[in-house]
Amino acid sequence: MSAPRVLVTGGSRGIGRAIALRFAREGAKIVIASRTSSELDAVVQEIAKAGGQGLAAQLNVAEEESVSAAMWRAFEFLGDRLDVLVNNAGGFYVAPLAETDADHWRWMHGVNVDGPFYVTKECLDALRSSEHAHVFNISSVAGKRGFANNVAYCASKYALRGFSDALREELRPTGVRVSTVYPGQTDTSIFDKVPGNWERSKMNKPEDVAEVIWRAWTAPAGTNVDDLDVPPRA
Ligand SMILES: NC(=O)c1ccc[n+]([C@@H]2O[C@H](COP(=O)([O-])OP(=O)(O)OC[C@H]3O[C@@H](n4cnc5c(N)ncnc54)[C@H](OP(=O)(O)O)[C@@H]3O)[C@@H](O)[C@H]2O)c1
Repeated sequence: MSAPRVLVTGGSRGIGRAIALRFAREGAKIVIASRTSSELDAVVQEIAKAGGQGLAAQLNVAEEESVSAAMWRAFEFLGDRLDVLVNNAGGFYVAPLAETDADHWRWMHGVNVDGPFYVTKECLDALRSSEHAHVFNISSVAGKRGFANNVAYCASKYALRGFSDALREELRPTGVRVSTVYPGQTDTSIFDKVPGNWERSKMNKPEDVAEVIWRAWTAPAGTNVDDLDVPPRA
């Protein structure tokens, strides 16, 4: 098989960066997409050091025009074939319902739900051009279970689960596989600005999620990779 062609949204930090570097070790061509170009450029260099080729795509997944504008360059780099799409870009918001205003609600749904919708639509043709195409939607343990003070985040991650499960059925006849990924708490910058006493040393490492995704992509045809739980380390 030729080098995998990969697109990771939110590939500049945390889980997305770890996924990009995991595929880089296999010689992949990887587009990483997020809003902050300086962070993207730094990860493109790390991708090269790890053995892959990277391209930075600056975009805001919550804005349809921003996604469309960035994609032509991405597909030029990837040669119009996409083997792995990881809808990973996301935000996290913690507040009780009474303190959750409409802007915060829309922010969660914009990045966590609208983003995967816009990006996946743009990628459909390139995915169908691959004989080994796989979409990974990064939901959360909060996409299966409710948590106090998490209405906006949980609602968005449950919605992403619905998107992902329906997409799997729609794409099944085409051979494009779709996995919904449910990480438990993972030590990334997502916790930097969120109130609360987070025990970060007990969390998953971003590389744990990346390894699950690599193994699912390389799993033989017929393996059930629909739902991928990544529970916290014991
Ligand atoms: N960490 C956890 O405990 C955990 C657990 C379960 C699920 N998850 C999910 O895993 C995913 C990655 O989280 P993480 O912990 O790695 O977070 P992170 O360290 O904060 O990284 C988030 C990434 O998403 C990008 N991003 C955020 N908003 C964006 C937007 N509107 N458009 C484009 N890119 C955007 C960020 O770059 P810019 O800010 O520069 O755009 C960054 O690259 C998220 O979907 C999150 O909900 C995380």
